[in-house]
Amino acid sequence: MADSLLVAMCGSFGLAAPGTESGPEPSLLPRPVALERRAGVFQLEARCILQAGPGAEAEARKLAAAMSKRLGVVLPVQAGDPAGAAIRLRLEKSLETRLGAEGYQLAVRPGEIRISAAGEAGLFYGGVTLWQLLPNPSGPPSGPPGAEPGTRQSLAIPCVEIEDYPRFPWRGLLLDPARHFLPVDGLKRFVNLMALHKLNTLQLHLTDDQGWRLEIPKHPRLTEIGSVRQESPMRGNRDRGDGTVYGPFFYRAAEIRDLVAYARDRHVTILPEIEMPGHFLAALTAYPHLSCRGGPFAVRTRWGVEPDILCPGNEESFALVEDVLAGVMELFPSRFIHIGGDEAPRDRWKACPKCQARMKEQGLKSEAELQTWFNRRVEAFLTRHGRRLVGWDEILEGGLTPGAAVMSWRGTSGGLAAAQAGHEVVMSPTTHCYFDYAQGKGPGEPESIGGFVPLRKVFEFEPVPPGLPEPQRKFILGLQGNVWGEYIHSEREAEYFAYPRAAALAEIGWSPAPREDFTLFNKRLFEHLKRLKVLGVNYRPLDQ
Ligand code: ACM
Ligand code: ZN
Repeated sequence: MADSLLVAMCGSFGLAAPGTESGPEPSLLPRPVALERRAGVFQLEARCILQAGPGAEAEARKLAAAMSKRLGVVLPVQAGDPAGAAIRLRLEKSLETRLGAEGYQLAVRPGEIRISAAGEAGLFYGGVTLWQLLPNPSGPPSGPPGAEPGTRQSLAIPCVEIEDYPRFPWRGLLLDPARHFLPVDGLKRFVNLMALHKLNTLQLHLTDDQGWRLEIPKHPRLTEIGSVRQESPMRGNRDRGDGTVYGPFFYRAAEIRDLVAYARDRHVTILPEIEMPGHFLAALTAYPHLSCRGGPFAVRTRWGVEPDILCPGNEESFALVEDVLAGVMELFPSRFIHIGGDEAPRDRWKACPKCQARMKEQGLKSEAELQTWFNRRVEAFLTRHGRRLVGWDEILEGGLTPGAAVMSWRGTSGGLAAAQAGHEVVMSPTTHCYFDYAQGKGPGEPESIGGFVPLRKVFEFEPVPPGLPEPQRKFILGLQGNVWGEYIHSEREAEYFAYPRAAALAEIGWSPAPREDFTLFNKRLFEHLKRLKVLGVNYRPLDQ
């Protein structure tokens, strides 16, 4: 009896009378497709029940865990209809045509919160929006002993009716543990933060000239030799070495499985990138006979582009590549596998008898075509295993392989050409999406690779090129911000370079066109950053 009374108090009826001023619009980021502010609030209290419809239990438990960080208690999840007010999560297949796989409806009413979606991702994103509707914590906790700072036993959630779905299916960021290793705990934190912005793809740049960071059990030399470099460029002076051995640093299979599962829980796909044929020196240091000149090599100790690359004239090169990709596919369930393909100088191929013999045998007219021939074999291998190939826009140069998707980084023209030819594209141009470039010009900014991509520039990016005819627009899967790691030594530094630019990217990737005015976005972002502050995120403060 006492319990049902308490339950009845949860979600007590709205404080504002109908027809009165309904309060300020909540600062949701990304901005939802449709939002109506209604009068009143839902009073979230510790005795609220989360009611999960069939198939919604896992998402309900995640939401309960997220709420507990503010409420200080974990709300109970149950299948049956509770007597009192509740938060209800429902899977409704019929919503798929209207909202897609990631969309949701969220209704906050004085007596009830309802999240409905066609799939679990939609329920999750509805939960993220609900989390953003919670009042920002301030002051000391009023929760039980041990509760996190700012917890409250009663939280007023403004009444709203929201319908929401993303503009693009690919909303990504890239991290680069090859240049500076990022432990799995840091990656998890980064994934969690992405999910709170409805970002859904994290590309991991796992291999490069400066380090091989993924354990491949069949080829332990890759990490024994390739995950250690003798020194690194010095902080503050990239032309000098720091004299300190770096490594061994790499991810073990069990750690990757853990990370992939953690990300899947947050509806984030981990996209592995194994660079080939260029940016391959760490592997060639372990296997120098797979280069055109035979080595010996050392894992690169300076940034930049390495002239020694994998030799496609040598059959053994494909044996290694296939072993590596088989190991990658075992760990990463992503539909796409990224094979890099960028910045592969072809000079060594020009001077290599094996490469030249291969070109003759295959009737290839240029070294660019040799790279396409290489990609074709790699793509066939991935296709046999039910996967898709994605690569940087250099893979266009000798002709795209049949099913390749393109990540357009040297501007958007590569992406435009690929989409016109019916290939899928992720836009990630240096001009707007390189989050390792400086975001401010003041003396307090950290060292960076150079360039200048301030927040506003990111916000102004339009992923669909104006010249692309309507029927081909569907090939633009979305966009990605790249947080390359040459000047980023830790997860904290990655956060600084990524945020708030990743929030602008999330807005582009999710919110409908046309985009809101930058000033209005900035106001919403200002409020949103208070949420990130509570989470301890090391974001760059907004310019005043
Ligand atoms: C790249 O930035 N080289 C893809
Ligand atoms: Zn060669």
